[in-house]
Amino acid sequence: MHAPERDPIPFNRPFTTGAEFELMQQAIAAGHISGDGRFTKRAHELLGAITGAEDVLLTTSCTHALEMAAILLDLGPGDEVIVPSFTFVSTVNAIVLRGATPRFVDIRPDTLNLDERLVEAAITDRTRAIFVVHYAGVACEMDAIDKIAATHGIAVVEDAAHALGATYHGKPLGTFAPLATLSFHETKNIQCGEGGALLVNDAALMERAEIIREKGTNRSRFFRGQVDRYTWVDIGSSYLPSDLLAAFLTAQLEHFDDIQARRHRVWSAYATELSGWASEHGIGLPTVPAECGHPAHLFYLLLDCLDSRQRFIAHLRDRGIQAVFHYVPLHGSDLGRRLDPAAHCPVTDDISDRLVRLPLFPGLVEADQARVIDAVRSFSG
Ligand SMILES: Cc1ncc(COP(=O)(O)O)c(C=O)c1O
Repeated sequence: MHAPERDPIPFNRPFTTGAEFELMQQAIAAGHISGDGRFTKRAHELLGAITGAEDVLLTTSCTHALEMAAILLDLGPGDEVIVPSFTFVSTVNAIVLRGATPRFVDIRPDTLNLDERLVEAAITDRTRAIFVVHYAGVACEMDAIDKIAATHGIAVVEDAAHALGATYHGKPLGTFAPLATLSFHETKNIQCGEGGALLVNDAALMERAEIIREKGTNRSRFFRGQVDRYTWVDIGSSYLPSDLLAAFLTAQLEHFDDIQARRHRVWSAYATELSGWASEHGIGLPTVPAECGHPAHLFYLLLDCLDSRQRFIAHLRDRGIQAVFHYVPLHGSDLGRRLDPAAHCPVTDDISDRLVRLPLFPGLVEADQARVIDAVRSFSG
């Protein structure tokens, strides 16, 4: 007879604080559930306090915040944008939707972030911007990247989908460029199912950002009483989330410290319990440089090759534990090859084959995490 099956441990289980429903009910009772109501404003304040961003606009997703950034930069046909290949499609779709062309640059083998040492060589007279991704919420080398961008007069956008609560030299990520984007997808530290935000750190961009988010109209100015009617003034789309979602998100943001503490407990237990095993077996763990404060977003392992990574995932699956790989290189995808046929990103190809993420969520209890750790350690390669 088989031993009784234990509950499976998922890679992620969206965490709720218990306060979400109450705040959503308040939004309903207040009779305002479309966008930019009381809870949107509260979420803006809370996000402003966490990130120190000059202005915050909630959006329907990080994907949409990235699209807004590309519109704000007036990217268009003939423009080139430097971007890592090791990212989610949304970072690059935002560029391609404007008719601009991505130039894929490889990542560093330690932090898995855009390799700033390769950026200068990828700049041409058509380069308009660099979109960086802070993988796992560990900062890119923003000092170097911002310096290169300033030298060449090109813009920087931070895709900070993983990075709420992270710092670089003590300063929050999302404030190292005029525009940065956050995700509140259910896999992220702070979540409302689907959601995002655009952080605007250049006051000159804010009025247009509001217009783009309101379907290309100046409705935000109308609601503030700054114009007596609103009209169509620019391109835009419906990037504004319902106040119901903002209420859910507000409950999460009000518990930000607790959520982060829970995630850090899980992350640190993995780091402590797996470091000896990892070094014995030549397995890589996340690299967090001294100048980076990480947000405990992901905990990953780097196996020695694709075959062992796949066997590792199966090994955990057999023990009821879900471990998952991550980005599939975009430069090698069908569309990526058509858009940037000369792209060469060997580190991205290698890391993508070897990386696996372990379950990490605020409600992962110690006994379940101990099961994951035991299962990991029992993998012999
Ligand atoms: C780096 C990065 N950017 C953007 C996104 C898209 O986020 P969203 O699902 O909020 O659109 C993701 C999704 O996980 C991501 O990993």
